[in-house]
Order: sequence, then C-alpha cells, then structure tokens
Amino acid sequence: MTKKLLLLPGDGIGPEVTAQVSRVVSWLNDNAGLDLQVETRDFGGTAYDKFGSPLPDETRDLALSCDAVLMGAVGGPQWAKNRRALRPEAGLLGLRKAMDVYANLRPALCFDALADASTLRRDVVAGLDIMIVRELTGGVYFGEPRGIDDLPDGQRRGYDTQVYTTSEIERVCRVAFLLARGRKNKVISAEKSNVMESGVLWREVVTALQQREFPDVELEHMLADNAAMQLVKNPKQFDVLVTDNLFGDILSDEASMCTGSLGMLPSAAIGEAGKPGLYEPIHGSAPDIAGKGWANPLAAILSFEMALRWSLDRADLADRLFAAVKTALDSGARTRDLGGSLSTTEMGDAVLKALAA
Ligand code: IPM
Ligand code: MG
Repeated sequence: MTKKLLLLPGDGIGPEVTAQVSRVVSWLNDNAGLDLQVETRDFGGTAYDKFGSPLPDETRDLALSCDAVLMGAVGGPQWAKNRRALRPEAGLLGLRKAMDVYANLRPALCFDALADASTLRRDVVAGLDIMIVRELTGGVYFGEPRGIDDLPDGQRRGYDTQVYTTSEIERVCRVAFLLARGRKNKVISAEKSNVMESGVLWREVVTALQQREFPDVELEHMLADNAAMQLVKNPKQFDVLVTDNLFGDILSDEASMCTGSLGMLPSAAIGEAGKPGLYEPIHGSAPDIAGKGWANPLAAILSFEMALRWSLDRADLADRLFAAVKTALDSGARTRDLGGSLSTTEMGDAVLKALAA
C-alpha cells in the first residue's frame, strides 16, 4: 500500500540536506520495492516569507494525514526579530504539538569510522550507542504563563513556566522503558529534583512507573547537570537516557559531539501508535554554511532511516539504508564537518553507491 511522506525542507541548509533524502527515496522506490509518495511544502521562515505563517494550516493538516513527516531545519537571523508566534521555531513547536509527538528519540551512535572525528578520545567514544528520549510537547517550551512584562520601576521581567503532569511524564518514560527492553535494559532519568518541583514529580512518577510496569528494567536517577558531566566523562555508561524537553535539547546536542559531528544525528518524534511521526536531523539551519553545498546530509538521511523503521513499516529498508551509510563512512566519505572535503551531493552519491552495491 502506498505510504505518504510530507517533506518540509525548511530554512538554511534544510533544503540541501533533504534533497539528498529525496534522492534516497527515489532510489528505494525504483529499486527496492518502497512505495512512498512524497509531498513537499514550505515550512519555517520560508513559509513565513511566502504565506505569512511558519506553519500554514494546510501544511499542518497535511502533516496529520500523512504516514510520516520529515523536516530539514528551521530558523535564521532574518526572522529572529519576528514576534514569537511568527518565528520559524514557533512553526516547529506548533507542528510537534499538533502531531502530539511527545517522545523524541535521539540516538547518539558513534560509527567506528568516525571514532577519531570526535573531540573526545577514541577509547571514550568508540562503540558508543546511546538513545536519548526527550519529552517534546511539554515542559518549559510550552508552559504558561510566559512573557516579558514591564515593571513600574522601568525594569522588565521575563519568565517561563516549567510544568509537567503525571500523564505527560508517564507516557514519555514508558517509551524509554520499552526501548530499553530491546537494548541493554537500563534507563537513566535526568531531572533537577534538587531544586525544581517538576523535577521532584518527574522522579516520583518515573520511579512508580518502573515499579509498576517495568520491574525488569534497571532505573537510575541522575541530576541533569551531573548527566551533562557524565556524558563527556564516560558516555558509555548510558543506554537509554530519558529527560524533559529543555534538558533533552541540551543533552542531545552535547551527546552529538561524542559521535563526531552534530551533522550526524537524526531524530524521530513519535506519539501514540498509528499516528504519523516527525523526523528531523537535530542540527539546525546553519545559516553560516547555507547555500554552500557543504552540509552533511547524513543526519537527514538517517532521520529518513528512522522514518522507515518507526512510521513506514519498512525496517528491512531501514537496515539496508543504515548499512549503506556505514559503508559510505567506512569507504572514507567525509563532509567538512567530519574533516573531509565532500560536498552534500557527493556524500549523497556515496550513500546511493553503497545502496546499489
Ligand atoms: C532541536 C532544536 C529546536 C528545539 C529548535 C529549532 C526549536 O534546537 O530540535 O533540538 O529547541 O527543540
Ligand atoms: Mg536543539
């Protein structure tokens, strides 16, 4: 049965990296029995410029009716002064919320060929395989009240609200425990229960969930600042790391550096079974290199690999695509972020060549 993918290239390097995903989709459609129809829409700043909204209604509705959505990147300096609701990032947050994709899977995996590309020592990162599960539709990114107020004394006051309910914590932690069962069976949960009430609740809820539903999975609690330190000290102690929206944003960028480059890390955002997932490289729009043809397309390609696995029922092709990326890296293919000189398209060529081999 034909499945549908909505492609949202977005801003900055987004269109360059998703163009390589389109090539991979075409190849798999033509040669490997994939039956995927791709629709493309403007998103983020690009959509704002054309339609006055970073997430046009039609795009949001289409996202909800597809099997999977793949986003390139959003944001750029030219939109930084937009009022918040009209910023590219607001389009992304709105899409995550509308799709209700509360569990963000961010694997930090160090390919053998890249163990020397990390700024950390080879022995610290070789063989690294962490799955970060970031809560994606709650917490301080969405909490109310928020704002910047004018005070009588002429100062201003900016504030955000970090807030989580029991069910929000439970559902994302359940995903983490289920994932751990298929891996090394260990979950580390990170919060700041030493200073935050939401952290106290987070720790209580994850503990109760583990006792009730996952007594077979090991659970360890870690304060988020300590987790940040442990990630560079001894990253291999982590199997599944579950944490809130803000800490997950930060810790996943940090973990990416253990793998060699931010340009390598894909992500999958999933919600209830049967609903479409949202797939995005975790790197941003990189305005400094946009249009140069240098960007590493592997995070985008690996995001599509996750879509094949989690939304498109083609784990077989996901395995094949993953192996092709590995072969390309083993053969020495490197974009600039990895210390090489290949262009975005040439890295795409290397993956396609490995697929065809
Ligand atoms: C990410 C990004 C986004 C986030 C931005 C672009 C809104 O940093 O996906 O990690 O903060 O979630
Ligand atoms: Mg981020």
